[in-house]
Amino acid sequence: MDIFKYDQTDSTNLRAKEMILSGVSLPCLFVANSQTMGRGRQGKSFYSPKDTGLYMSLAIPYDYVDCDNVSITSLTAVAVALAIKEVCGIDTGIKWVNDLYTDGKKVCGILTELVCEPLSNKPLAIIIGIGINLSTRKFPSEIESSATSLFVSTDIKEKLYKKITDNILNIKDNSFMDEYRRLSIVLGKEIYYTVNGVDFDGVAVDINDKGHLEVLNSDGTRQILSSGEMSLKLKRD
Ligand code: BTN
Repeated sequence: MDIFKYDQTDSTNLRAKEMILSGVSLPCLFVANSQTMGRGRQGKSFYSPKDTGLYMSLAIPYDYVDCDNVSITSLTAVAVALAIKEVCGIDTGIKWVNDLYTDGKKVCGILTELVCEPLSNKPLAIIIGIGINLSTRKFPSEIESSATSLFVSTDIKEKLYKKITDNILNIKDNSFMDEYRRLSIVLGKEIYYTVNGVDFDGVAVDINDKGHLEVLNSDGTRQILSSGEMSLKLKRD
C-alpha cells in the first residue's frame, strides 16, 4: 500500500481527496508531521502542531467495508483504541460517536468523509481521518480544559499508524460493535445533548449494532440518536 508522507500540509484529508480524484490506487495512506488546517467535525478545526501528534488519513474504496458512515466511524474508534492499547499499553474509552478519551479528556478525533465522482456524483472512496495527541502539552485556550495527550514518545508513530491501518482493513463484520460497547464511556451515564437547537438530558441506555445511541430522557421519552452531527456532553465532563 502506498504511504504519502508530509512534513507539513494543510490537511491529510484534503490531500487524500485530491489524490483520490486524480485516480490514486486504493487503499492508501497519508501521514503528516503537522497540519496548518487540520479539520474536525462540525466545521471545527483540529489542532495539529508539529512533532507531537499523529495526523493520518486512510483512503479506502467506497465498497471496501460493508457498512454506513456511522458504522465506519465506530469501527475506526475501536480499531484505534485497540491499536493504542497494543502499541502504547494505554487504555482509552470511546465517547459516542467517535472521540477517544483518557482521564476524562479527548486524545483522539476521527473525521470520515465520502468522496464522489464530481460529474456523476458516484461514490468513489471513503477517507478516514484520525488525529491523535501523542505528546502535545500546550493546547489553545479554547480546548485546554478538554484535550490531553497519551504522553508517549513520537518514536512509536510509524508502529501506531501501521497497526491502526491493519486493524481498520481487517475488521470486516459487525463484531466490533461488542467491543465498541465495552469501550464506551457514555453507556449507563447521564448526558446532555442538543438536536436541532433543542436541549435534552437523560441516560444513555444502549448503542445498537448500527452505532446509534438509545437515550432514556428525563421526561420518560426514549430517543434513538443516529447522527454524529450533534453535540453530546457527559454530565460530569
Ligand atoms: C474531530 O475531533 O472532530 C475530528 C478530528 C480529525 C482530525 C484528523 S487529523 C488527520 C485528518 N486530517 C484532517 O484535517 N482531519 C483529520
